[in-house]
Amino acid sequence: MTNPLIIAPSVLAADWGRLHEQIRAVQQAGADWLHLDVMDGHLVENISFGPTFCETVAKVATVPLDVHLMISRPDRFWPRFAALARNITIHVESECDVLATLRAIRAGGRECGITLKPGTPFARIEPFLGEVDLVLIMTVEPGYGGQPFIPEMMEKVRAARDRRAAGGHSYRIEVDGGINAATGRTSVEAGADTLVAGTSVFAAADMAAAIRTLRST
Ligand code: DX5
Ligand code: ZN
Repeated sequence: MTNPLIIAPSVLAADWGRLHEQIRAVQQAGADWLHLDVMDGHLVENISFGPTFCETVAKVATVPLDVHLMISRPDRFWPRFAALARNITIHVESECDVLATLRAIRAGGRECGITLKPGTPFARIEPFLGEVDLVLIMTVEPGYGGQPFIPEMMEKVRAARDRRAAGGHSYRIEVDGGINAATGRTSVEAGADTLVAGTSVFAAADMAAAIRTLRST
């Protein structure tokens, strides 16, 4: 099964001093979704932004918002994002009942996703594959934008694709971290259908060209 390719620029890499202008520009440039990286300084080694910042983004967003919760207690905080998000992705390394949280997100009317850090084996997310709308394979250690892509993670992308076919699932397969024209192509060849790209889009001289290139992978 093939899902149409989605390009989801990560707002983490935008110039927040002119946030609304940057969001309008990246939408104009062809972004399908906007990816929002929420970090708590506990699940990952950085603190980014929370629900209020996401609401500020939502004010000018005309495309769906893809919320990536890099926080230890998504069970407590996901409702704060429910009104603005298209989908909410949580980490398998979270300190909560992951299955119950995924089910609560769906029951709340939002699509749910599961993700894992590079050092976490794919087997950890297998029990959840029948319960999710999206599987996010981290291709860098979560916490910072601008890091190099880890090619070994393609094994997990292929595993997600193979298990989807074998299990009759329909989840999207998203990659996040170090995605540019070359690594985007590698990811799509392995089975990804949703590309998160921060630096390669927001730091580009021509964002529309950067998105076009990602789309033609
Ligand atoms: C990393 C975040 C990513 C990040 C990607 O912790 O989950 O979404 O913003 O940024 P780039 O594309 O610059 O690697
Ligand atoms: Zn992310």
